[in-house]
Amino acid sequence: MRASEIRELLKLLDRPGMVSFAGGIPDPSLFEVDAFRNVYGDVLTRSESALQYSTTEGFPPLRRWIAQYMSDRGVPCGEENVLVTHGSQQALDLIGKLFVDPGSSVIMTAPTYLGALQSFTAFEPEFDSVRFSDGLALTNATNARLLYLVPDFANPTGQTLSKQDRVAALELARRAGAILVEDAAYTDLRYEGDAEPRIAALDVAQSGSIEASRTLYCGTFSKTLSPGLRVGWVCGPASLIRRLTLIKQASDLHTSTINQQVIFRIASGYFDQAVARARDTYVQRRDVMLSTLAKYAPQGVRWTTPSGGLFVWLTLPQQLESGALLEKAVARNLAFVPGNAFFADGSGSDHLRLSFSLLDEKTIASGVADLCGLLDDELRRAA
Ligand SMILES: Cc1ncc(COP(=O)(O)O)c(C=O)c1O
Repeated sequence: MRASEIRELLKLLDRPGMVSFAGGIPDPSLFEVDAFRNVYGDVLTRSESALQYSTTEGFPPLRRWIAQYMSDRGVPCGEENVLVTHGSQQALDLIGKLFVDPGSSVIMTAPTYLGALQSFTAFEPEFDSVRFSDGLALTNATNARLLYLVPDFANPTGQTLSKQDRVAALELARRAGAILVEDAAYTDLRYEGDAEPRIAALDVAQSGSIEASRTLYCGTFSKTLSPGLRVGWVCGPASLIRRLTLIKQASDLHTSTINQQVIFRIASGYFDQAVARARDTYVQRRDVMLSTLAKYAPQGVRWTTPSGGLFVWLTLPQQLESGALLEKAVARNLAFVPGNAFFADGSGSDHLRLSFSLLDEKTIASGVADLCGLLDDELRRAA
């Protein structure tokens, strides 16, 4: 295992004056702090079980809330199809433990979410990559354990798979005999356009029921309500949920009882409101980032236009290398994540990831303009 470059980098970011586009974390001013304070107080007063051990599967009312959330989004299911996890990150770890052995094949996009790479790497698979940009360019893998995708507003690219690509991904998983892991961390944060169908929903529609499907859907409250409580879930066929539950039991017995009770109450009362507030805030920050790039980015620099999520992905002209660029950026009190952090083979140094979630619009505008200034200087130097 390698220390996560992002987490190492985050240590630098407390420096006064640093303008960081690096961490893709929610803005804490969006957290419903008063509601959390009241609900924690209330749960402690009324619930005898809040401070007690609880079942591995999760707090039953929360499992039912999640089953309803999934059913409303085209994945009809019951609580037996839901395991509450310690963030969706734990779901990835449990899935890795269940399916991945040394040398087995895991298919992912390149680039992909760094935390998924870390989770699966622990079980020593071979990574195969799949690209969606020119239709579905398939890998040779005919025998894979997992196909892992972040279909909406992906980390790091911000890109979203079309319905056609989702259908093709399911077909690829079926042919490879793989479980499709749908990581929906950002799916609720859509700023415009109609939602694409969940891959899990397409799968259930094709296979006739969730029990016959091959998709494990990983959801989380981290990007909508709070990442600090560490509550997420995995939803899929009951037979797989039971096996994942046994693995979780051996790992941590259960997710924090009080946090599940609190998240249940907050989700029941504030979910739609919290999602709407987050969307309203982030869309404006995205717009400022995109318009500043359009105004100042030197010729040859390209970037994605995400319709949701927290990230914009830049592609640099050949002469520039994002690791070297980061050192120079930090000297100017600017930070981003170099692209190679998101590739299993360490390639991708012609890319960098910018997050617009944490900074106010004015700071985004001046920070992106400064970054474009740095790119300009470096391109001139290289010419
Ligand atoms: C794509 C993706 N999946 C999963 C996670 C993990 O989120 P959590 O464990 O907080 O649910 C993240 C966090 O940044 C992410 O970007």
